[in-house]
Amino acid sequence: MKQAVWVKDGFFPQAAALRSAFQERFADPRATRSDRFVWDYWHVPDQYTLVRTPADHFFPTVLYRNFLRRLTAWGRSTLGCAALTPPWLSYYVEGCEQKLHSDLPHGPWAYVFSLSPRRKKFQGGETMLLRPQTLAYWQNFQDAQDREYQSFVRRIPALFNRLVVFDPRIPHGVTPVRGTHDPREARLVVHGWFTDPKPCLEGALSAAKVAPVLDEAVGRFVEEIRGLGQWHGILSLSLRVGASGLSAKPLILADSLVNTDARGEERRLRALVLARFAGLRFPKAKAPTKITLPLLFR
Ligand SMILES: [Fe+2]
Repeated sequence: MKQAVWVKDGFFPQAAALRSAFQERFADPRATRSDRFVWDYWHVPDQYTLVRTPADHFFPTVLYRNFLRRLTAWGRSTLGCAALTPPWLSYYVEGCEQKLHSDLPHGPWAYVFSLSPRRKKFQGGETMLLRPQTLAYWQNFQDAQDREYQSFVRRIPALFNRLVVFDPRIPHGVTPVRGTHDPREARLVVHGWFTDPKPCLEGALSAAKVAPVLDEAVGRFVEEIRGLGQWHGILSLSLRVGASGLSAKPLILADSLVNTDARGEERRLRALVLARFAGLRFPKAKAPTKITLPLLFR
C-alpha cells in the first residue's frame, strides 16, 4: 500500500502553548497592541481566501524552535527531507477556503498542522484531497456504482494538534469555513512544505562514510530500471545498518511514485528497490545507524 498521506494526532506536546500565544493576541477584540497588525488578508479570486502571516515571527522563540525541531525531525526520519520552507500561520473564518490546486515546485511533501480550538465551532475547514480512484477514474470505473462527493474527495478535519502530511501534486484544497467571524474560533493552521531530500542519518556512521556505498547502489539501481517506464515522485527507504556495517532489508517509509507513461511496472519497480537496497555493506562502526534515503524520480 502506498504511503502518501499521514494523519498524526497529538503531534506536538506543547501545542496548547502555541495555541495560547495566538489566543492572547486576540483576547481583547478592542485592544490595539501593535502585534495584532501582522495579518495579510490573502484573496486570489476563485482560488484562495484566508488570513495569513509568516509563522517565524509570531510565536515565542523557544517554543517555536521546539516545534520546528519536532517537525524537522519527523520530516528527516520519515521522508528523508532535511529542511522546511518558512512556515505560514493562517486562520480561516466565514468564507475562507482554498479551491483545488496542486503545489508543484514548493517541495515533495506538504504539511498542515492544526492549532484550531479544541472545541470546534466552525463548519468545514477540512483539508480536501482528490482520492486515488478519482485520479484514475476510468481505470477504476464500474458502471454498477453510484458515486457522490465523498467517493471522489477525502476530507480531513483540522483537529487541534493534528499534523496532516500529503503529496502536494495531488489536487487539494480547504473546504469553505462557515459559522464564525471570530479569529479565536477560526480554523488555525501552520502550513508549508518539507524540502531538501537527501540521506538523513541517525547513529554512528557519518554522511561521508555512507555516501560511497549509497552512490554506488543508486547508480546500479538507475541502470536497472531503464525500460521500466517513466516515473514521477519520491520513494523514501529506511535502511537499518548494524555495527557490523551490514544493512537489513529496507522498508518503504514514504511513497508518492506514479507512473506517467501508462506502461510502468509498479510492482517490479518496488520489488527491485527493496532487493537492490538490501544487504549493503557500509563501514563498521561502534553502534548501529538508521538511514532514511529518499529516491527522486522525475
Ligand atoms: Fe496547497
